[in-house]
Amino acid sequence: MWFGNKIFITCVLAFLLFDGLYCCQLSDPYRFVLEEAPYTRLCSTKNILTVNGEFPGPTIRVNAGDQITVDVYNKGKYNVTIHWHGVNQLRYPWSDGPEYITQCPIQPGGKFSQKLILSTEEGTIWWHAHSNWTRATVYGAIFVYPKPGTTYPFPKPDAEVPIILGGWWKRDIMAVYEQFIATGGVPNQSDAFTINGQPGDLYPCSKSGFEYDGLVHCIAPYIY
Ligand SMILES: *[C@@H]1O[C@H](CO)[C@@H](O)[C@H](O)[C@H]1NC(C)=O
Ligand SMILES: *[C@@H]1O[C@H](CO)[C@@H](O)[C@H](O)[C@H]1NC(C)=O
Ligand SMILES: *[C@@H]1O[C@H](CO)[C@@H](O)[C@H](O)[C@H]1NC(C)=O
Repeated sequence: MWFGNKIFITCVLAFLLFDGLYCCQLSDPYRFVLEEAPYTRLCSTKNILTVNGEFPGPTIRVNAGDQITVDVYNKGKYNVTIHWHGVNQLRYPWSDGPEYITQCPIQPGGKFSQKLILSTEEGTIWWHAHSNWTRATVYGAIFVYPKPGTTYPFPKPDAEVPIILGGWWKRDIMAVYEQFIATGGVPNQSDAFTINGQPGDLYPCSKSGFEYDGLVHCIAPYIY
């Protein structure tokens, strides 16, 4: 359906493929620009909130024990925070993301530099917006490779593919949210479940033959 059967998929833990080559200059902050971008799924197009125009958002690649900074610029319409799901942020909750718990939201036009402090985490975790339903489209993977010079406790796989599960509403996500709050009922169900931002082939008007040709990782995000 969306990737070749030759690829060996392994869930939860990420694998080291290009030992020593994948890494970036850790001293440079990541730049996350929250902005709307048009996306078409199930034969309809709408603007969604993205990071840097990407859906799912960019992948962060770090090593266990690293510290990085992500500069988050909010060019969208809503207050937003970004949460680093699975990063323990030991003794540093101040940029962990839950709005009004550890930080105020980043207001439209604003910027906040969020520090991520990796400690013993290793494998594949994820980041997502942590305010309202901005989280429905604002998310991505974090690959935490072992410390340089060490390896994961299993043999090196042939390939790596990230698998990011999500949902897609054809309606504007805030309209669904506002109706849900106003009625006190349950939110309308999504029109499709997605893998790496793509609905499966069996949904009406799904783009068929989607293939993912990349490195294997697996995460299973959930809304809360
Ligand atoms: C956005 O955040 C600011 C600062 O925390 C707050 O005063 C304002 O009420 C928020 N707006 C909404 C719509 O929640
Ligand atoms: C969530 O979004 C709704 C609809 O846009 C807004 O009225 C509300 O103030 C937001 N709440 C927070 C905490 O940002
Ligand atoms: C939610 O679903 C109901 C019933 O199908 C529909 O009438 C309504 O327009 C939907 N609301 C939104 C915001 O999608």
